[in-house]
Amino acid sequence: MRLKFLPSFVKRRGRITNNQEENLKSLSDYSINTLDDIEFHLSKFLHCCLEIGFGNAEHLFFQAINNPEVLFIGSEVYMSGIGTLIGNIQKEEISNIKIFPDDIRILLDENKDKQIFDAVKIICPDPWPKERHHKRRLINADFLKLLHNSIKADGNLYISTDWADYAENIKETLDQSTLFESSKDFFIQKESLTKFEQRGKDEGREIFEFNFQKKD
Ligand SMILES: C[S@@+](CC[C@H](N)C(=O)[O-])C[C@H]1O[C@@H](n2cnc3c(N)ncnc32)[C@H](O)[C@@H]1O
Repeated sequence: MRLKFLPSFVKRRGRITNNQEENLKSLSDYSINTLDDIEFHLSKFLHCCLEIGFGNAEHLFFQAINNPEVLFIGSEVYMSGIGTLIGNIQKEEISNIKIFPDDIRILLDENKDKQIFDAVKIICPDPWPKERHHKRRLINADFLKLLHNSIKADGNLYISTDWADYAENIKETLDQSTLFESSKDFFIQKESLTKFEQRGKDEGREIFEFNFQKKD
């Protein structure tokens, strides 16, 4: 079968601990499969925020604890990260995180007319540093169209990367786009660096941050 999207991630499964494996048995209690599922849960919340590629979910979890009025949707294909997140959700008994455990483009691509997200965050998308792999990078013009379709009017898009040439590429793609414009309002609150931001910093790389706003 030909895939509609070129994989933008490295591995899905990786090494999974016994605890993560156990937590994953409850995945269906926390997962959403469609945008209708999100709308169903949204009735109890004021806003909805999507984080794509949450990794170990340190940022997503911190945000959810501190903003109980916001429904957070986290998308990740990396099963051990999903297992860790479920363990934390159960420990703190919070109800404002739902998980899409697959390639986010599958969820966004089925959207016809729902503008659901107040904000979308992508922290350190896989960099695919080799030139022959650049086509696998998540941020490109087609992906912006998918995002634009699902973000509310004036909604925000935050992207960070610790790879200078991906940063240039993100800037160019967004500069050429008629769908988003640069915004001075940084809506993201961070308690600490994520695992990949920290790794980038430890390896001497700068972290580039971009904040955009949806244009109509
Ligand atoms: C470099 S890691 C960054 C993880 C985390 N945001 C951080 O900063 O530590 C990128 C993550 O994005 C996930 N990812 C890549 N493409 C994705 C997609 N299309 N949908 C959902 N997650 C994706 C990968 O599985 C990986 O865990």
